[in-house]
Amino acid sequence: MHRTEISVWTPATLANINVGFDGLGCALSGPGERLVMRRTDAVGCVNIRLIEGADLPLETSLNVAGVAAQSLLKALGNPCGLELDIFKEIKPGSGIGSSAASAAGAVFALNALLNAGLSPQALLTHALDGEALASGSRHADNVAPALMGGLVLCPPRGLPVSIPFPVDWHVVVLHPDVAIRTEDARKVLPENVSFKDAVDQARWLGVFTAGCYQGDGALAALALEDLLAGPHRAGLIPHFESIRNIAMRHGAIAGGISGSGPSTFWVTLTTDDSAQVAHELKAFMRNEGMACDIHQTRISARGSRIIE
Ligand code: HSE
Repeated sequence: MHRTEISVWTPATLANINVGFDGLGCALSGPGERLVMRRTDAVGCVNIRLIEGADLPLETSLNVAGVAAQSLLKALGNPCGLELDIFKEIKPGSGIGSSAASAAGAVFALNALLNAGLSPQALLTHALDGEALASGSRHADNVAPALMGGLVLCPPRGLPVSIPFPVDWHVVVLHPDVAIRTEDARKVLPENVSFKDAVDQARWLGVFTAGCYQGDGALAALALEDLLAGPHRAGLIPHFESIRNIAMRHGAIAGGISGSGPSTFWVTLTTDDSAQVAHELKAFMRNEGMACDIHQTRISARGSRIIE
């Protein structure tokens, strides 16, 4: 059957996860973003009809979903035109893969709409065309898990690799109501890091990966030391040290900055602990007079999907 319209949902993602800067990310069970795509007769044209939930450009060349869809449409030989409606539940600049969800959702939807049969890995390059517009660089640590689901390693060359994820992790994401552009958060990073930090970070990533393969979420969490990016970015995030202290005091076993921030993520091993951490962080933010969103979520095996 020839579809004329499709709705897809794409999850938020956690990139870096402390130990894998630009090279590690996972899909979350929520929040996510819905995108509706329709075929049109305007061959080769991508038109964004509406965006709900965020103030983002409708102009195709300035919109992450528009650029990603245009890139894939062209690669498929421009067989039709497209119209997009975007419903953003993930706030732009939140650090949980808002632009990646748009980019991944757009290419996933187009692949399904045209029955093109491309694998998530093959879609990735087109999603990255969109993601690069938002972040100024082609890192796949949000886009790959948004498309593929689960926990994904992104090597400097070649295709992303899925690895088992800690199924016992509960994740609290605290998103303070400030926006940090990935491009800006990348500007605070040093050009060079010390040999010792590079070596130690590789050692921690190794232990994290071993913990994942052993199904030992506590070991994976123990390894979450961020030596390369976190120390330079913590100052961008309001109250980072207090947030960390509160989360760790109330049941979190590890955590850090989500992607390029300002969201932070906090890992617990039970629902009760995650509820407690969420409760305490909410109270703290209220006392500080800072608006925030809090998500109690999990790592999810599923990436972009068709919804009815
Ligand atoms: N790895 C990227 C960064 C993720 O931290 O800059 C941003 O979405």
